[in-house]
Amino acid sequence: MLVCPSAGLVGKLAGTYFMEVLEKSRIRRSKPLPAVEIREMELKDVAAVFELGQKLFTAEEWPTLYRSWDDHELALLFSNDAETCLVAEAEGRVVGFALGRVLDKPRSAWRYGLLMWLGVERRFKRGGIATRLLRQLKGLFIERDTRMMLVDTAAKNHAALAFFRRNGFGQEIRHVYLSQNLENDPRYIQRNDRGEDDTED
Ligand SMILES: CC(C)(COP(=O)(O)OP(=O)(O)OC[C@H]1O[C@@H](n2cnc3c(N)ncnc32)[C@H](O)[C@@H]1OP(=O)(O)O)[C@@H](O)C(=O)NCCC(=O)NCCS
Repeated sequence: MLVCPSAGLVGKLAGTYFMEVLEKSRIRRSKPLPAVEIREMELKDVAAVFELGQKLFTAEEWPTLYRSWDDHELALLFSNDAETCLVAEAEGRVVGFALGRVLDKPRSAWRYGLLMWLGVERRFKRGGIATRLLRQLKGLFIERDTRMMLVDTAAKNHAALAFFRRNGFGQEIRHVYLSQNLENDPRYIQRNDRGEDDTED
């Protein structure tokens, strides 16, 4: 698994700078947030979780992420790992979620708890909801004998990095994504000239 590029002095300095900027942009609320309940995700929540995720994980903001937020990914996660999927509910609707998965690595005695997706609705941010979701998910992982919890996020997602660091995550590993545009490959050009649209080779 991945994570963030803040190891080293430059990262630390940049991190300090962004922390200050983010601190200054803290949300000031005119009225307190309504009561929020953290509970297991149910089938009836899937559509609301998907919709909220679409607002939070946009392609522009997460262009290089190795996985993307789509209905298939969510359906798969929910059908295989519902026990480690949580939602935050306020005023009868979903305002946050933490979707996790227990991972057994081949030839490893360790069991890992992966936090796959974490999100909180804009209006509810900085209200401690993600902290509660994370704490509860950690408990579920521990009940399932996991010895380590893993998270990842884009290096420029400073809010998430600040959140994870605040919540005890460390040992950050930089992971580099590379890409190559295939549109200039003769086979791509040939294929398009022929007007092929099937995906089979
Ligand atoms: C990251 C995210 C889940 C945090 O949710 P949240 O409910 O606002 O987090 P909390 O209120 O529990 O924050 C706890 C602490 O984390 C840190 N933190 C959270 N958001 C921060 C921000 N924007 N800037 C700086 N620090 C932040 C702070 O230390 C905060 O404590 P404080 O409010 O007392 O200063 C939320 O911003 C989000 O949904 N982001 C979009 C999706 C995403 O990036 N998900 C993570 C990767 S999957």
